[in-house]
Amino acid sequence: MIFHQFFEKESSTYTYLIASEQTHEAVLIDPVASEIESYAEKLNEHNLTLVYSLDTHVHADHVTAANLLREKFGCKTVLHRHSGVACGDIFITDRSAIRVGEILIEARYTPGHTNACTSYVVDDMIFTGDALLIDGCGRTDFQEGSAETLYDSIHQQIFTLADETIVYPGHDYKGRLSSTVGHERLHNARLGQGKSKQDFVQFMTNLDLPYPKKIDIALPANKACGQA
Ligand SMILES: [Fe+2]
Repeated sequence: MIFHQFFEKESSTYTYLIASEQTHEAVLIDPVASEIESYAEKLNEHNLTLVYSLDTHVHADHVTAANLLREKFGCKTVLHRHSGVACGDIFITDRSAIRVGEILIEARYTPGHTNACTSYVVDDMIFTGDALLIDGCGRTDFQEGSAETLYDSIHQQIFTLADETIVYPGHDYKGRLSSTVGHERLHNARLGQGKSKQDFVQFMTNLDLPYPKKIDIALPANKACGQA
């Protein structure tokens, strides 16, 4: 398997490239519009064909590269069926499977940060978008978010995986690249050590976060797959 983690500085977003060494087919998870040249370079370097671009959710902090990639490479845009994004090509649901050569990508519906968040499991890795972050989680106060729902999603869909499963988040603001399910189950400040749902909901309710800076630009753009 070919694997690469990209980082977009402005929104501290991680984008992931996963590709088959056998068929040279590739997917990108959470590509950012401004970074399309670095994706093109990496695809070119390994002689890869981009077949899918996957968004873990409709982002509020950056514009997706979905449409730019579709125009440039002819790949298909993949989103959860509840995302309300009409321009998607493939709408997935919980446990949908996406195959790229010998690689199987399993979708796990993990709503709570938004109503349409999906995490993707590939071998011993899970790409959690903004559901589970390293030592944190996505906010739950916009986009039909719900702390109760996020708690259940993380416990039922992520914490049920093996301890050594590598967690690749949608963002990190402290330069950390990955974590593991076992580490987060123990040490995540909001959810670790078996914190109760009640404590979690109270914590999320009292976060008092500022209005998301780019939401008024990013949301309409992302509902149109990032536009051209
Ligand atoms: Fe998000």
